[in-house]
Amino acid sequence: HEEVIELIKKQAEKLIYVYRSQFGSHESERLATQLFEKSPYGRLEYSFFVNSGSEAIETAMKIAYQYWQEKGCPNKNQFITRQKSYHGITLGALSLSGHALRRERFEKVLHTRLSLNADLENDILEAQTAELIELIEKTGSDNIAAFVAEPIVGAAGTALAPQPGYYERIREICDTHSILFIADEVMTGLGRTGKWFGLEHWSAQADIVAIGKSLGAGYAPIAATLLTSEIIDPIKKGSGFIMSGHTYSGHPLSCAIASKVIEVIEQEQLIAHVDEMGNYLKKQLESLKQSYTFIQTVRGKGLLIGIEFDPEIEGLAKRCLEICYENGLLVYPSVGGKYGRNENGLLIAPPFIITKSQADAMVQILQYSLDTLKINDTKEFIQ
Ligand SMILES: Cc1ncc(COP(=O)(O)O)c(C=O)c1O
Repeated sequence: HEEVIELIKKQAEKLIYVYRSQFGSHESERLATQLFEKSPYGRLEYSFFVNSGSEAIETAMKIAYQYWQEKGCPNKNQFITRQKSYHGITLGALSLSGHALRRERFEKVLHTRLSLNADLENDILEAQTAELIELIEKTGSDNIAAFVAEPIVGAAGTALAPQPGYYERIREICDTHSILFIADEVMTGLGRTGKWFGLEHWSAQADIVAIGKSLGAGYAPIAATLLTSEIIDPIKKGSGFIMSGHTYSGHPLSCAIASKVIEVIEQEQLIAHVDEMGNYLKKQLESLKQSYTFIQTVRGKGLLIGIEFDPEIEGLAKRCLEICYENGLLVYPSVGGKYGRNENGLLIAPPFIITKSQADAMVQILQYSLDTLKINDTKEFIQ
């Protein structure tokens, strides 16, 4: 984007870097203000900038620990997450994640998490929330710091969105049991789902929100942990210091870029465009189900769309991904299956600026690629 490139040049001449513990910067202050203004109900008043989504989750975990310590509850140090989840590749974030493939090599060193096994799409809401309440009661809420969830599950769940009312109930349960709610919006945040934040598809609010990916829009590595004043206040009154941060946290060049990206998204009304193009694309992808019976589900919101294949056809998504790549279409592997235990899913998440004709071209290439997959009656590939 010309305006972003121009900004990068100007910013490089003005100020590249200062170390955040000794200097503030207008660039980081401005970005924090924009994020606060965009945040649901204007509640996320504080931003802690880092360089990747994994770091944003680590920071969220550490601030949750610290919040409870400063409130005199040091035993509240466990996290509840969902089996179908991915929260990052660093050990803390990975310890929260259910993504089997990414975890398995490190299983021995990871702390166990308290995990929910719910089938988010099909279980009735009461069964899912009963499972959460049971887990809390078994563990004791005095030992639990937070519930952590991706509002819409990305690579670990093929754009899986829990049903209406789900996060509202989660919020109530968290409040009843004095547990924080951390929303991992690294994939869903800043427009991807057709709203600034994925959680806005429900009317629930989180205490801590991690964002990444779209924040730098590919121009710079930047992510953030956003916080309400309720979370910051006890820390301010207590130690007055968040025990976290990285050398390049709040890098002025990255902050200036992210700030410009938000401006462009607003100016060009890209959130509404994402919503419109998402609906357009999803409709077309759904219609493919009639011709290809091995497509089980097409789902998603905005431009985060998932396709799940018949789980019994081993390696189908992988094979499809390879053929799409050969034909010039990039799709992303995703964990599918009821409980996230097989890989037969694909994520389709094109840039926010995609046009109708580009969306048509995508579907055409996908269709052409699906045509080349031949499967016999025993659900094996025909070479
Ligand atoms: C939901 C979610 N959380 C966290 C992360 C980790 O972000 P990063 O890869 O920037 O460390 C990812 C990355 O895919 C993600 O999808």
